[in-house]
Amino acid sequence: MVNPVLPNSEPKMRAHDVSVYYGAKRAIDTVSIDIHTEHVTAFIGPSGCGKSTFLRTLNRMNDTIGSARVEGVIELDGDDIYHSGMDVVQLRARVGMVFQKPNPFPKSIYENVAYGPRIHGLAASKAELDANVERSLRRAGLWDEVKDRLADPGTALSGGQQQRLCIARAIAVEPEVILMDEPCSALDPIATARIEELIDELRGRYAIVIVTHSMQQAARVSQRTAFFHLGNLVEYGDTSQIFTTPREQRTQDYITGRYG
Ligand SMILES: Nc1ncnc2c1ncn2[C@@H]1O[C@H](COP(=O)(O)OP(=O)(O)OP(=O)(O)O)[C@@H](O)[C@H]1O
Ligand SMILES: [Mg+2]
Repeated sequence: MVNPVLPNSEPKMRAHDVSVYYGAKRAIDTVSIDIHTEHVTAFIGPSGCGKSTFLRTLNRMNDTIGSARVEGVIELDGDDIYHSGMDVVQLRARVGMVFQKPNPFPKSIYENVAYGPRIHGLAASKAELDANVERSLRRAGLWDEVKDRLADPGTALSGGQQQRLCIARAIAVEPEVILMDEPCSALDPIATARIEELIDELRGRYAIVIVTHSMQQAARVSQRTAFFHLGNLVEYGDTSQIFTTPREQRTQDYITGRYG
């Protein structure tokens, strides 16, 4: 097997032999993967293959599902995130998440972004909080559209704007990793293009993992691609390699549309 060209840096996150069960049913089977900072990693694969399940293990969102059980080791900067000493609230600030359906809080645009920095004590004054809100909304490419209506409810924005608001909310707490589960699937092509541009800009500061059903999107935004099938990580490598010269037949079949 030819090893993919790996980035020079230490991985930001490392999963080792991770399996996930829902009750007795195994949804993820001994998956090992490294996630690097300043990279976008795409998770692709047919519906039900475990992409969301695996993504959720990376910030312990599966903890909220009673029947879910995780085996194996997942490290963030070398620390086991499932260790009993891990502060899960802190972990989820470091490893933020953006969901398929934009889910702003039923609060103002300002409060959606300010909430996290406030509860995590990241702003010492109102001026600092204001600055964080503006910076996060600018980074999310939303500031110009909302700066004159910060007191309006977040839910009053369009779908694409709501998704950028959720991204602003995630980055306001200065995360190190951002997990995105099909962040564009509810958006029109223009809003999708805007989010893809944004992902590319954000890549410079974070490790980003994106689940997508769009091969084109994976090819456009990611540098690394992981192909999952039936709970297994079949192949992981440079995006260009996965899409041009996959090593595995199952990857070839999927990217050429034979199933999924
Ligand atoms: N909360 C849950 N309880 C029980 N089983 C679950 C739960 N969530 C997912 N599963 C099962 O785990 C498997 C993987 O599901 P998962 O949602 O991770 O797949 P996916 O690759 O994200 O699919 P999609 O592309 O449709 O979003 C499926 O068989 C699914 O039915
Ligand atoms: Mg999913």
